[in-house]
Amino acid sequence: MEKLVIEGGRSLYGSVAISGAKNAALPLIAATLLAPGTHVLRNVPDLRDTRTILSLIGELGAVWSREGSTLFIDCSDISYCEVSYDLVKTMRASVLVLGPLLSRLGRAKVSLPGGCAIGERPINFHINGFEKLGVTCNLEHGYVEAIRGDKLKGNTIYFDFPSVTGTENLLMAAVRAEGTTILKNAAREPEIGNLIDMLVNMGADIEGRGSDQITIHGVSRLRSSETDIIPDRIETGTYLIAVAAAGGDTKLTNCEPKHLPALLGKLSEAGAEISIEQSSISIRMDPEKRDGLTGVDIKTMVYPGYPTDLQAQFMALMTLSSGICLIKETIFENRFMHVGELRRMGARIQTEGHSAVVTGCGPAGLSGARVMATDLRASSSLVVAGLAASGRTEISRIYHLERGYENLVSKLGGLGARVWKENE
Ligand code: EPU
Repeated sequence: MEKLVIEGGRSLYGSVAISGAKNAALPLIAATLLAPGTHVLRNVPDLRDTRTILSLIGELGAVWSREGSTLFIDCSDISYCEVSYDLVKTMRASVLVLGPLLSRLGRAKVSLPGGCAIGERPINFHINGFEKLGVTCNLEHGYVEAIRGDKLKGNTIYFDFPSVTGTENLLMAAVRAEGTTILKNAAREPEIGNLIDMLVNMGADIEGRGSDQITIHGVSRLRSSETDIIPDRIETGTYLIAVAAAGGDTKLTNCEPKHLPALLGKLSEAGAEISIEQSSISIRMDPEKRDGLTGVDIKTMVYPGYPTDLQAQFMALMTLSSGICLIKETIFENRFMHVGELRRMGARIQTEGHSAVVTGCGPAGLSGARVMATDLRASSSLVVAGLAASGRTEISRIYHLERGYENLVSKLGGLGARVWKENE
């Protein structure tokens, strides 16, 4: 197994190009199952998770090839509808094939994901929604077996909580249902807008993009399509936070500033200088003036609120401030796994339930240590901390990072960081 080694304390200068969004690529790749023909997806990041979903759709009969960041996926011959525990346990988003398989083949058997490091993460909203569309779902031997009658039937579905993948799964199921489906209290994350754009390119009839009520008028046929994956807002946010933590002057290109309203506001409040152009963000934090970093509170919310996927990284930044801040996690019940590791680097953090109080110890407050990655975003908070800390940080289990950050080592190296991989 490999570990990531960081010699910290170097500021970050230069420019870095942001990759396509993991959490958009996964549902869009799943959506190719909906229609025969060759689909083209551009700006697809080459990550452990995108490779996992490609091998999954490959098992179902899809044939794909990659040229640079463009994927060509031929879904003419989809005949298998079962997804094993081995795949789902490595990536929960595997459940995203349920909606497309129900639409295309009328049945799907997918292993039920268990809990994971950040919470229980049930998929009851997905299942309840499918049942409203006329699907019979049985749970046996750890698998959900879902079967529809002749056709899926449009209905009104209310989400108790605006689940991201739940909304995506129901959208993909409903596009070819008979009649109209209305998703109420639907998630509004930009990745859902990206999926809707692809489905519309395929011939779907959808209203309400960007709102919490999405209306889908079922169509009888869909065709293959060409779609661009949106820039990864979480990768963008992680680099912005890293520069704020380590100091420096960096331009992030190929990104979408409009997708990060909460983070950009919080970074400015904390003392970073931010300037925005159409598809780039520049951030400047004078390394000599990092003691001016202010403690700023955050509370994770659904989009456009502060994203839970950037909570851990912001906490790492706040450990270097000269103030105190309160961090509230409202999306997942167990998303403070990074706290114990950050403490090993000198951070002063107290948690109580879903809240954490961070007492900043100033820009020189962290020192490098051996730490353990527990999930994708917790790992990236350790990278942020390692870049700002004095001395050497070693992060084990970096396969977590490889799930969501394309070319992390070379991108950080290009900004002047000393980062490399070593065998454990
Ligand atoms: N929930 C339920 N029942 C459901 C679905 C969700 O109770 O059927 C609960 C969850 O347990 C959680 C909350 O609702 O407490 C929100 O979960 P959601 O369904 O929105 O999360 P998700 O769709 O499983 C996606 C991202 C996550 C991101 C969350 C929140 C993908 C592939 N994953 O997960 O990304 O944290 O939305 O924005 O899109 C990551 O990239 O590191 C990551 C974890």
